Amino acid sequence: MCTENKKPTLRGAIGPSRSPFLVGASWALATAVVLSGTTHGTDLQALRRHDCGACHGLTLQGGLGPPLTRETLASRDDAGLIDTILDDHPGTPMPAWAPLLSREQAAQMVRLLLGTETEEARETLALVIERASGSILVIDATIHTVLGRIKGLGDLSHASMEFSRDGRYAFVFGRNGGLTKLDLKTRQIVARVLQSGNSIGGALSRDGRFVAVANYTPGGVRVFETATLASVADIPAISRAGGAPSKVVGLVSAPGARFVFSLFEAGEIWLLDLADPLTPKIQRYQDAGPLPYDAFLTPDGRSYIAGLFGTEAMTLLDLERPGAGARRILDGYRKGESLRPVYKMPHLEGWTVAGTSVLFPAVGAPQVLVADTTAWTLTDRIPVQGQPVFVVSRPDGREAWVNFALPDNDTIQVIDVTTRRVVRTLKVGRGILHMAFAPQGDAVWISSHDDDTIILCDPVTHEKTGTIPALGPSGIFFATLKTDDRGRGP
Ligand code: HEC
Repeated sequence: MCTENKKPTLRGAIGPSRSPFLVGASWALATAVVLSGTTHGTDLQALRRHDCGACHGLTLQGGLGPPLTRETLASRDDAGLIDTILDDHPGTPMPAWAPLLSREQAAQMVRLLLGTETEEARETLALVIERASGSILVIDATIHTVLGRIKGLGDLSHASMEFSRDGRYAFVFGRNGGLTKLDLKTRQIVARVLQSGNSIGGALSRDGRFVAVANYTPGGVRVFETATLASVADIPAISRAGGAPSKVVGLVSAPGARFVFSLFEAGEIWLLDLADPLTPKIQRYQDAGPLPYDAFLTPDGRSYIAGLFGTEAMTLLDLERPGAGARRILDGYRKGESLRPVYKMPHLEGWTVAGTSVLFPAVGAPQVLVADTTAWTLTDRIPVQGQPVFVVSRPDGREAWVNFALPDNDTIQVIDVTTRRVVRTLKVGRGILHMAFAPQGDAVWISSHDDDTIILCDPVTHEKTGTIPALGPSGIFFATLKTDDRGRGP
């Protein structure tokens, strides 16, 4: 959502007549209003993002309509802008919003556009993992100001985070088996359990009731209530053949109260259903292939893909048709590569879906691989500077940003997803560990571990726009705190 370039949008380009587009836009708006009940409950921020953004660009930097940024509007008078929003613009696609917005709401929209209404400032937080110091830096992602630092989370190397549905609580999965629940409003630890000796991430169930953690030592999965972190289930991950529990990797949540994960030693994929938490149901797929080391769920929630250690193929379980079992995909995808030593185990979380393509880091080769998400065949290999670690697509799917393992960990490359070429090579800092696009689309946040800095870049121009000091930053996560007075659901 960081750019909608100066070209007309796809919807705008439907045909010579503008009417299909206008009908689409007003229909979308009408549903927004109806869904939120009264006009009082209209979510102006969502309206601005989705409806105004459809024409004025997702970052409001201009598109079919002119830019609506703070800078371009600053010199205008408020009353004039309110009229502009409410009134007709004959001969242009800009609709009159008077039928849908009250004058008061239009005024509020103007304040949002001018940045004088700071509701959003309380809404989006950036949480940065400071792994060596076991702390999490909390930053207001709109005004780029540090709000505080939450300490005492233990070993946070490879730590990851998930959020409650209202955005209020974060669940941090530490490497040392620690599971910590943070209240993002008070910026305090509200509960913490040391639930195993060594763990590798986890997930919240889609219904928000449970948090599951994937464990290495001892293997298996443990499930807790999100409200209290009280233990709900302990799944030892022992295959039918018996023996010790497997290390569990690639744990994700699936619709319902389900979790999917892979058993490293056993080579199995398990589907755990906690609809009745007292009697967890497990479906096992024993033909997952040898040594699944990590997994990835496509953003549509449908395809669970596990990478196989030492095998040039991956395994796919279609969660809409799990009965069909796991199947091999991308067979021989590493063929013909002259392998370099692998200094950093690539995680499949480094994968990104852009449109109907998935872009992912090659293992042991300076390439980003492209596969088609329908046939799951390899369609391209994009040469890049080093061994890629994360490939992160810009929310509009048009570009992907790539970082690298040593010795190229001071470099970021930007790939044009359409032409599949590197269009930019950036040197913005040392020890680049992670990149994430802010949900408002105004910046890409980059952690420069060795410079103790978060670097902000413009997602469209790629220029550096700011820095924020942090202690050896690694993972960056965004939480959207929903306020109670918006008429939104949980
Ligand atoms: C269907 C496309 C479309 C949508 C949707 C749309 N606009 Fe516009 N908007 C335009 C166009 C085109 C113009 C230029 C109109 C003109 O030249 O008179 C414009 C002009 C404007 C202007 C005047 C800008 C200036 O610099 O003079 C404002 C303010 C504005 N829009 C606000 C909004 C807001 C707020 C929303 C969402 C509630 C919105 N627009 C939704 C297409 C759109």
